Amino acid sequence: MKMIEVNNLVKMYKRARKPAVDGVSFSVGKGDFFAFLGPNGAGKTTTISILTTTLSKTSGNVKIAGFDVDKEARLLREKIGIIFQNPSLDPQLSAEENIRFHACLYGMCGYRPAFRMMPAAYRNKVTALAEIVGIKDALFKPIKKLSGGMKRKLEIIRSLIHTPDVLFLDEPTQGLDAVSRRSLWEYISDVRNQYGTTVFLTTHYIDEAENVDTVCVINNGKIAVCCPPDEMKKSLLRQELILDAEDRAALTSELSALGLPFTINGRVIVPYQTSAQDIIARLQTKLTVLKIHEPSLEDAYVDFLNKNAGIEMVPADHSNARRMR
Ligand SMILES: Nc1ncnc2c1ncn2[C@@H]1O[C@H](COP(=O)(O)OP(=O)(O)OP(=O)(O)O)[C@@H](O)[C@H]1O
Ligand SMILES: [Mg+2]
Repeated sequence: MKMIEVNNLVKMYKRARKPAVDGVSFSVGKGDFFAFLGPNGAGKTTTISILTTTLSKTSGNVKIAGFDVDKEARLLREKIGIIFQNPSLDPQLSAEENIRFHACLYGMCGYRPAFRMMPAAYRNKVTALAEIVGIKDALFKPIKKLSGGMKRKLEIIRSLIHTPDVLFLDEPTQGLDAVSRRSLWEYISDVRNQYGTTVFLTTHYIDEAENVDTVCVINNGKIAVCCPPDEMKKSLLRQELILDAEDRAALTSELSALGLPFTINGRVIVPYQTSAQDIIARLQTKLTVLKIHEPSLEDAYVDFLNKNAGIEMVPADHSNARRMR
């Protein structure tokens, strides 16, 4: 069964010169993990906003969990959880009150003015989720006393409290530290295993999409490619050999003599298309380092955008992820 069906989706903002989303079509199966990647301004948030009924479309068809985004918006909303790209908490409430308000909207309670009066299922779930994302101590504090990362974690708890069938995550880990990022992904993986939740992710941390079922790259409002991550790696990226020798000059002159292209980047990096063994067998210089670099999804993604979209990639100082400007 398809949980997300998008056909020829178009969004033209008022007074814009071109559509932000320009004829996008894709579908996501039940329980699938789907990554929607693309540079800043590509149209990811616009798409997610339409899919989650917070923005109207110009044309096209969208169904989520079998419900039409225009005609069955209320039913559709019951099936989804969202982490918005921009903060969406009520600053007048405490952390837990923000979650409770959301839970009540989803019919998880009648009118209950206090946490201790809420059903045990709610209290247990909030407490467990707060522990997982590491804000148990901040649960009853006013929003204004929470750091940016803590607020993000709170939004994560809120999106999961009603056990949605489809979870939309628009840059969910932006602003989270490495430990919280990892525990969040472990938790989402558990949620998927336990409930078969379909997950739609946008992120600039491409390593987070390494284990998805399908990657779709959007650029200038159009889908550029849609395939499993492994296919993207295979079809788009050359592999690399990382070599080094005590006598690096001898190694580089040998590579030049063999007509092999290489770059020196602390070590000698030789891109190869065919057999690594073949190259190694032809080298006389004694090697001190010999590694075959397995391409990551991020490598393939950057390579793809450089080749296909003419976009210059700028590495950010965030762990091993690159952001695009
Ligand atoms: N409310 C709006 N009114 C007019 N134009 C908008 C509006 N929101 C977004 N846009 C434009 O639509 C395009 C797509 O924006 P969108 O926010 O969907 O990109 P994105 O892929 O989510 O980017 P990012 O990675 O930076 O979050 C951009 O050109 C943006 O300037
Ligand atoms: Mg966005």
